[in-house]
Amino acid sequence: MNETLAAIFQRRAVKVFEPVEISEEMREQILNAARHAPSSFNSQPYRFYWVGTAKEKTAVAKLCMGQKPAETASALVVAVADIGSLAATSQSQLEWMRRRSEFSEAKIRDYERTAKIGRILFMPGPFGIFAAVKWGMFWLLNLWKVMGMPPLFRHDLFKWATKSTSLACENLMIAAETLGLNTCPMEGFDGRRLCRYLGLSARYHEIVMVIAIGRKSHVYVEPPQWRRPLEATVTIL
Ligand SMILES: Cc1cc2nc3c(=O)[nH]c(=O)nc-3n(C[C@H](O)[C@H](O)[C@H](O)COP(=O)(O)O)c2cc1C
Repeated sequence: MNETLAAIFQRRAVKVFEPVEISEEMREQILNAARHAPSSFNSQPYRFYWVGTAKEKTAVAKLCMGQKPAETASALVVAVADIGSLAATSQSQLEWMRRRSEFSEAKIRDYERTAKIGRILFMPGPFGIFAAVKWGMFWLLNLWKVMGMPPLFRHDLFKWATKSTSLACENLMIAAETLGLNTCPMEGFDGRRLCRYLGLSARYHEIVMVIAIGRKSHVYVEPPQWRRPLEATVTIL
């Protein structure tokens, strides 16, 4: 079978790991695979916290309610949706475009304009006031024009950023699998305390999941994998 497909089909949420060293090179490959995932407007609205030292891992595992995968993992990755990174990201992409010869002045100006519109659109304002006004305008426009509703309120922005973060998480897990490691995604954690532990701000950050990484323990027996039948999850038009 194709190697990528094999990794996808082999991946399981492993509940007990045995100690294994994850080299810096492996760590980099795993994290690089994560950030190569597609993201909305290529905004990459996330930050990954790699928790690898014994002391930090124990503290984070405790905040994952002492779940076995967290306690036994070689590393924990906290995937954070970061809506405070948008301006810096577009600025950084702009600088990258300016350094390259492939982009004409017109293309750069185009990107600059789009980024500016994005910044205005994605700014909820104090108490969501700007978001409410923009929502009303979009709602009216949508009565006669086919269009999508952009994420306007803070909770919409987090939902929007969570989509891209989740895709990066899946990339990360498949990359780990191809490198002979195993993973367990977890949403069982104390978000408030974990945010505080990592020094995150509720205004800009939301923890999407924590991924335990390690090698499956030889004593751990996986339950059979169940999935809904294809026809229950797919509609072919
Ligand atoms: C968003 C998300 C949250 C999850 N949270 C937990 C968790 O907190 N603890 C856990 O043991 N497994 C967790 N899982 C793993 C699922 O239980 C597991 O993926 C599912 O049962 C299917 O098993 P499989 O991945 O081995 O096929 C989570 C999975 C996802 C995608």
